[in-house]
Amino acid sequence: MKVTVVGAGAVGASCAEYIAIKDFASEVVLLDIKEGFAEGKAMDLMQTASLNGFDTKITGVTNDYSKTADSDICVITSGIPRKPGMTREELIGINAGIVKTVSSSLIEHSPNTIIIVVSNPMDTMTYLVHKSTDLPKNRIIGMGGALDSARFKYRLAEALEAPISDVDGMVIGGHSDTGMIPLTRLATRNSVLASAFLSEERLNQVLEDTKVGGATLTKLLGTSAWYAPGAAVSALVQAIACDQKKMFPCSAMLEGEYGMSDICIGVPVILGRNGIEKIVEIELNDAEKASMAESAEGVRNVNDLL
Ligand code: 2OP
Repeated sequence: MKVTVVGAGAVGASCAEYIAIKDFASEVVLLDIKEGFAEGKAMDLMQTASLNGFDTKITGVTNDYSKTADSDICVITSGIPRKPGMTREELIGINAGIVKTVSSSLIEHSPNTIIIVVSNPMDTMTYLVHKSTDLPKNRIIGMGGALDSARFKYRLAEALEAPISDVDGMVIGGHSDTGMIPLTRLATRNSVLASAFLSEERLNQVLEDTKVGGATLTKLLGTSAWYAPGAAVSALVQAIACDQKKMFPCSAMLEGEYGMSDICIGVPVILGRNGIEKIVEIELNDAEKASMAESAEGVRNVNDLL
C-alpha cells in the first residue's frame, strides 16, 4: 500500500506521521514544492520509526511526481492555510489553482488512485477535482466531516463530563463555520441520547462550539490546526487501505442523494478499498433538512467563484 501526501506543512506531516504510526502502509511519499522541506520532514519522521515501532518507509521529494507513481491513495493538503480572522472560503483564489495542478499531476502518475482532498475551502476543492479530472466519483473524497465529528465528540464529552470513548456524534453539511451541521439530536452517550443528560441550551452551546472548532484553534495558534486534521485524514486512509467499511461523514459528489445533485458536501459514507462504497441516507428532521439546504447554498456560492 503506497500513500502519497502532497504538502509537507503541518497538516501533511502530521497526516504522514499518523499513517506511519498505525503501520498499515508500506510506503508514504511526502511531496512539497519547497526545496528539501519534504525530504527533511521525512527524514525526521523516519528517525522516530525505531522509537515509535513502525516499518512504514517515508520518503520526501521536492515536486517530483514521478516518485509518487502507482500510489493507491493520494492526499492533497497543499495550499495556503487560514490565518486568524480568515474564513476557509477566502482561500479559494490561491488554492484552486494549486489543487487543480496537483490533482492532475498525481493522476498522471497514479491513474488508479483514490484522492482525499484536505485543502480549503474543502467542499469546493473536492468539487473542483471532480470537475477537472476523469476519476470516478467514488475515488474523490473530501475530508471535513471526520474532523468536525471528532471536534463534536470532544465538545460533547466536555459537556457530559464523560470520557470521549463514551460519546458518539456526527457532523454533516459543508466544512465551514456556518455550514457545519452537528447532529445534536442523534448524539449519544453509550446509546443513550445526549439530550437525556444535557439541556437544550447546553446542547446548542456544544453545537456552536463545534462549528467554530477550526476558527477557535486558528485564533489560538495563529494558523490552522494540524493534529486533529492529520489524525482525521489518517483514519480515512486506513479505512480505505484496510477495506474497513467504516462510516464517516465525508464530502461526496451527490447525484440525487439528500435531494441534491452536482455538489460535494458532507454526508455519511462507507469507506472501503474502492473509496466511497456507499452514500448513506439518514432520515433528517425538518430543521436538519433546512440546515442542509442552507449549508448547500453556501457551498454552491463558493463553487460559483471557481
Ligand atoms: C480545520 O478545520 C484545516 O479546515 C481545517 O482545522
